[in-house]
Amino acid sequence: MEEPNKKVQVRRIFDSISHRYDFLNHFLSAGVDFYWRKKAIKLSKMSPDSVLLDLACGTGDFAITAKNSGVQKIFGGDLSYNMLSLFGKKADWINGRMLETVAEHLPFQKDSFTNITVAFGVRNFYDIPTAFKEFNRVLANKGKATVLEFRLPENKLVRNFYMLYFNKILPLIGRIISSNQEAYTYLPESVGEFDKKVDLVKIFSDCGFANVKKYSLTFGLVQVVIAEK
Ligand SMILES: C[S@@+](CC[C@H](N)C(=O)[O-])C[C@H]1O[C@@H](n2cnc3c(N)ncnc32)[C@H](O)[C@@H]1O
Repeated sequence: MEEPNKKVQVRRIFDSISHRYDFLNHFLSAGVDFYWRKKAIKLSKMSPDSVLLDLACGTGDFAITAKNSGVQKIFGGDLSYNMLSLFGKKADWINGRMLETVAEHLPFQKDSFTNITVAFGVRNFYDIPTAFKEFNRVLANKGKATVLEFRLPENKLVRNFYMLYFNKILPLIGRIISSNQEAYTYLPESVGEFDKKVDLVKIFSDCGFANVKKYSLTFGLVQVVIAEK
């Protein structure tokens, strides 16, 4: 079967920028990304008994934040081999498994996890409803899915400033440091597209989740959505 174009493009991008990903992430967000991940994990109310699947785990920063908050059993999944292998180097402690997989087709049995997390990954999925149905299948009853994702701020002033940074300055710095034009043009484009078209609360509800809650952080730059099976 032919692979969807978006899957091929996203894998190509992350495989090629993986070596610069962590640095650029923290640099371009001035380190605020650490706070966003921490806050999203706190809102998810996990415990040491939680069994977590961190999807689109990339180089592992969300999983590492969960581990630092006390979660013991953590699995990681991502479609980019290069991102995963950097995660492997950062986290030899992992009590679980890391695997190359797509969120749209998970190699796990039903009711396997108490929590699923995705940070800055859903926007890149090639089929969000299919992925959320998979989340529903592999989560145990009352299990929670947490999504942390960029949005465009609603306040006009903040939005204008943000658009200038996101559309002009960030792609320039990203291009110079990562030597990859495609990746840092794709980033603002994908956030714009996602913000216009995707209502995560509705998709979660349509895919069988309940108690869907959303939280806005840092002037609406990012959103945390938590849904329960
Ligand atoms: C922006 S990075 C986020 C990495 C990490 N979660 C973080 O917080 O830094 C997005 C990741 O999503 C992965 N990804 C994109 N589409 C995916 C899919 N359909 N299934 C699994 N992983 C995917 C990419 O390979 C990439 O590593």
